[in-house]
Amino acid sequence: MSKRRKLNGEMSVSSGLAAEARAGEILKAAGEHDNPKLERLLKEYNFKDVHAVDVQNAEGTTPLHAAIASSANEPVSGDGCATVRLLLESGAIWNQLDKNDETPGCIAFRLGLPDLYEFMVDAGVRAEVLLNRLEGYERLEDDEEPEGESTDLAAEAGLDGISANEDEVPQLVDTAATATGGTTVQPRADVNSADYLSSDLVLTRDKLLDGEQNGVMMAWEADIMKRSVDCLLLKSGMKVLNIGAGMMIFDTFVQDHANKPEVHHIVEAHSDVLTNMESQGWDKKPGVTLHPGRWQDILPQLVAENKTFDAIYYDTFAESYSDFREFFTEYVLGLLEPDGKWSFFNGMGADRQISYDVYQKVVEMDLFEAGFDVEWHDIDIPELDAEWEGVKRKYWNVQKYRLPACRFMD
Ligand SMILES: C[S@@+](CC[C@H](N)C(=O)[O-])C[C@H]1O[C@@H](n2cnc3c(N)ncnc32)[C@H](O)[C@@H]1O
Repeated sequence: MSKRRKLNGEMSVSSGLAAEARAGEILKAAGEHDNPKLERLLKEYNFKDVHAVDVQNAEGTTPLHAAIASSANEPVSGDGCATVRLLLESGAIWNQLDKNDETPGCIAFRLGLPDLYEFMVDAGVRAEVLLNRLEGYERLEDDEEPEGESTDLAAEAGLDGISANEDEVPQLVDTAATATGGTTVQPRADVNSADYLSSDLVLTRDKLLDGEQNGVMMAWEADIMKRSVDCLLLKSGMKVLNIGAGMMIFDTFVQDHANKPEVHHIVEAHSDVLTNMESQGWDKKPGVTLHPGRWQDILPQLVAENKTFDAIYYDTFAESYSDFREFFTEYVLGLLEPDGKWSFFNGMGADRQISYDVYQKVVEMDLFEAGFDVEWHDIDIPELDAEWEGVKRKYWNVQKYRLPACRFMD
C-alpha cells in the first residue's frame, strides 16, 4: 500500500460491513456539512486501501461529491464551502469519478454553484501543476534533487499535510489518481506517440483515424482551424510555420487566405500523412517547404539555421503536455519573430468542462513562466453527434473552444 494512502489512526477496519458503515458516516457528515464531526472521523478511521477522505459508497460518491451535491440550496459561501475546503486540505482527490461519470467539480458545474466550482478548478490546477513538476523531476537522469525539495513543491502547490520524500514522489499525486477523473489531458486521445507513428491511418472525407479508430483529426474542427489562421495571418507576405498537417485543413486555409504568406513551412511526422500530402502536390507548392519528421528532430535544425517565423501553429497528435511545454519553452523562443504571434490547438482536457478549465489555467501559468502573454477568444462549438460515428472516443465535450493567441511579453 502506498504511503499516500496510509492513514494514521487507531482503528483498523477489517470487516467489509464495518468499513461500509464507517464510510457511510464520513459521507453523511460531509453531506450535512458537519465539519467538527467530519474532521474527527477523518482522523479516526484507518481504511485498508483508501485514504479516509476518498472513501466511496456503492454509487461512487466521495465526501467531496456528497458535500457539493448537498450545497445546491445553500446561500453562497455557506457551510458547503467550509466542508469542501476541509476535504481538499485533508488531501481529497479532486477528480474522482462517481458512477454517473461525474467528478465533484462536474456536480458543482451542473448545479450552478460557481464558488464551489472555482474551488474545485483551483484544486485541480494545484494538483496538475504539482504532477507536471514531479514528472519533470522523474525525467532527470541523475538524482540532483536537493533533499526536501519535493516537500517544498507539495507545500507550494497547496498540498500541505501530504508527506513527500523521494520514494513517495510518484504517489503524491499519482497518474492513476489523476486518471481516476477519466480525463485525458492529451488532446483528442491518450495514445503513445511511437505506436501512433507506426500505425496505419485511415482517411475518409470527414475524418482521419489511427489504427485504433482514435480520431486524429475531424472535419468539424475546420472552423477552429479557419479562426486560428485568421488570428495569425495579419498581413500578407508573412513567414508561417505549422507543426502537424493532419487533414491539411489549417494549411489549406493558410494557402487560400487573403494574406497569403510568402514562406509556409510544414512539419509532419506520419508517413501516411506525408504520402497523402505528396499525392496532392503539397511538396511542390510555391512557397511551401515540407519537413518530413518529428518536430523534435526538425526544429533544432531550423533554430541552427537561424530561421524565424511571424506566425507559428502547433497541433500534433499522441503527444503529452510535457512535449507541448518543451515545444514552447525550448523552441518558440528561438523561432518566433519578436513581434510574431503563435497559437496551438487547445484541446487539453476537452472531454469535460472542469478539466478544460483546469488546463487553461495550467497552460496560462506555464506560458507566463516561459515569457508569453496569451489572449483567449471563445468560439461556439455546434452540437456534435453523428460526427462521432466510427470514432473510438468522443474527445470533445465542451461548448466553447478557447482559441489561444500568444505573444512575447512586453
Ligand atoms: C491533429 S493532426 C493536425 C491537424 C491539422 N491541424 C489540420 O488542420 O488538419 C496532428 C498531426 O500531427 C502529426 N504529428 C504527430 N506527432 C508529431 C510530431 N512529433 N512531429 C510532427 N508531426 C507530428 C500527426 O501525424 C498528424 O498529422
